[in-house]
Amino acid sequence: GTIDLLLGRKHRAEQLRSCLGIARCLIVSGNADTQPEVLSAMGKAASDLLQDELPLGPSVVSVMGGSTMVSVAECLTPALARNRELTFVPARGGIGEAPALQANTISAKMAEQTGSQYHSLFIPESISQEAIDSLRLDPGIRDVMKLIKSSNIVIHGIGEAIQMAKRRQMSPELIETLKKRQAVGEAFGYFFDKSGQIVYKLPRIGLQLEDLAEMDFVLAVAGGPQKAAAIQAYAKIAPKQTWLITDEGAADTILKK
Ligand code: F6P
Repeated sequence: GTIDLLLGRKHRAEQLRSCLGIARCLIVSGNADTQPEVLSAMGKAASDLLQDELPLGPSVVSVMGGSTMVSVAECLTPALARNRELTFVPARGGIGEAPALQANTISAKMAEQTGSQYHSLFIPESISQEAIDSLRLDPGIRDVMKLIKSSNIVIHGIGEAIQMAKRRQMSPELIETLKKRQAVGEAFGYFFDKSGQIVYKLPRIGLQLEDLAEMDFVLAVAGGPQKAAAIQAYAKIAPKQTWLITDEGAADTILKK
């Protein structure tokens, strides 16, 4: 019956959690690679989870981009901001996504959906390290940077490495390098191989991987068998307080191995 099904899924989620070595896993049914509605189901699960788990009072929430985050944003409601003062910020600026998928867009959308505040961080794409260094001195940018660094909650996606490199229109040479270094996944602009070794990092400003360790709550949302290796590899560098919302497609692939 339904109870057995629910218990079975709970057991599976605990198996996955223990396999990945993170705080908690939630598995929604289906396969995001072949069923578009699974993306919405993960978004809804994320919205429910945030409602239950986010601390009350003020929080700065930094968010990443991508289509999974769009789905999370669409599922948020003003209920999330009840007894909370949320400020949404992009976790990292300018990592080459199309406008609709950028962290700035998602952060503004989450603020709109919940009736909260947001701040944008506009960093042009193909910009030199010197220019980044001087942008850091700009008072407006510095204020948003400070907010990002002070964030206590992060919501992010995980991607398959080469797919992400192509979506960001990284050069063929760089894509070759990523292949040679056996990159399997990407999160926060960091590309890593299956052992969780960072093999390439986009030189952009904002949250760094080491900043995650101090967060109160870290939520990763990623599903579909195509992301199984990426999720598994990312779990090796993820902070221990990470929660993962995924689907059966990815969970089954990870647990089968
Ligand atoms: O580029 C932002 C980002 O969050 C990446 O870090 C991640 O790999 C990707 O988007 C996930 O995108 P999607 O949800 O569309 O698969």
